[in-house]
Amino acid sequence: MTAIAVDIPLLTLKGQQLEIGAEVKAAVSRVLDSGVYILGPENKAFDAEFAQAISVKYSLGVDSGTSALELALEAVGVGPGDEVIVPSFTFIATATAVSVLGAKPVFADVDPVTMTLDAKSVEGALSPRTKAVIAVHIFGQPCDLDPIVSLARSRKIAVIEDCAQSHLATYKGRPTGSIGDLSAFSFYPSKNLGAAGDAGAVTTNDEKLRDTINILRNCGRSAAAGYDHVRVGHNCRLDEIQAAVLRVKLLRLDAWTASRRRLAAIYDEGLAGLPLKRPPLGSESSKPVFHLYTVRTDRRDALAEDLRRHGIGTGVYYPTPVHLQPAYAALGIKRGALPVSEAASREALSLPMYPELSAADAGRVVETVRRFFK
Ligand SMILES: Cc1ncc(COP(=O)(O)O)c(C=O)c1O
Repeated sequence: MTAIAVDIPLLTLKGQQLEIGAEVKAAVSRVLDSGVYILGPENKAFDAEFAQAISVKYSLGVDSGTSALELALEAVGVGPGDEVIVPSFTFIATATAVSVLGAKPVFADVDPVTMTLDAKSVEGALSPRTKAVIAVHIFGQPCDLDPIVSLARSRKIAVIEDCAQSHLATYKGRPTGSIGDLSAFSFYPSKNLGAAGDAGAVTTNDEKLRDTINILRNCGRSAAAGYDHVRVGHNCRLDEIQAAVLRVKLLRLDAWTASRRRLAAIYDEGLAGLPLKRPPLGSESSKPVFHLYTVRTDRRDALAEDLRRHGIGTGVYYPTPVHLQPAYAALGIKRGALPVSEAASREALSLPMYPELSAADAGRVVETVRRFFK
């Protein structure tokens, strides 16, 4: 394979840094000068600002999206002997969050159009041990939550949204992260809202659950300070520097999201008519935010190689569905068990997507893909 310079990467944070680098540095200096590095005013302000941004009562900063999922599951009482239904076409943290609590992830399939959890498959995966279901808004596509929530309500099962890729996406007019009992956000640097390191948040409208997360994230303390530990907890706090960085970026999230949507529209129009599946652009009831713009084709690897030779970066999310990962070999799930997830893993290819990508470069991606299929 010859080394060819990629001049349109799959994603880059360089443009963002050029735009806001000075403000981010000022925010970091402000924290350093304050001498308060953990659970201080930046955390408090970010919690309030992020909660407002996604129309939810409470948001609590934590140290990663993975921790956010783990704490959310623990807060609704998931533990050994329980089962939690998760999609297989996701990042592995959705499932490992269940496993580290001693519970069992039960894998369900996804919808062939949105690639998000399919309610019918969830129904087939229910058992008397099911304690919760995690709906993942993969690539920023809102999962069809209504049938999942009504199934869950009828069985008294908790609904947790995995919003690691769906900041500001809306479902039937409501932001993702404001609908389930609890939701988990990741602010991994490349996410639509990213910190300068690992960070995450748990959101909820339920005051009791908010209190539980607050205790769990801070070593089981009943209050922010002091040594009164009311339950066995974790250290999953968000640090002040990350909260300050996130506050700067949150001010741009609307504009960045609009830019992602414009780029998705360019791809959608430009790729129309080709023998590949394009992600839904959205509708009145579902407004995606295109964390990734992922097409599907049975010529995926050849297309990726052709784009690479033309200096265009791509990504494969995810090459192996979670139920077929070595980490879950002990569950003994055979290939073929979840056909839509397995096909997606063979066919999915993500094209360059970041807010600073120019329309001209998106057009160049379109033309290169069109030439490939000629
Ligand atoms: C769907 C999904 N869930 C969970 C996570 C975990 O988030 P983090 O990397 O912040 O722990 C990610 C991040 O990659 C993700 O994409």
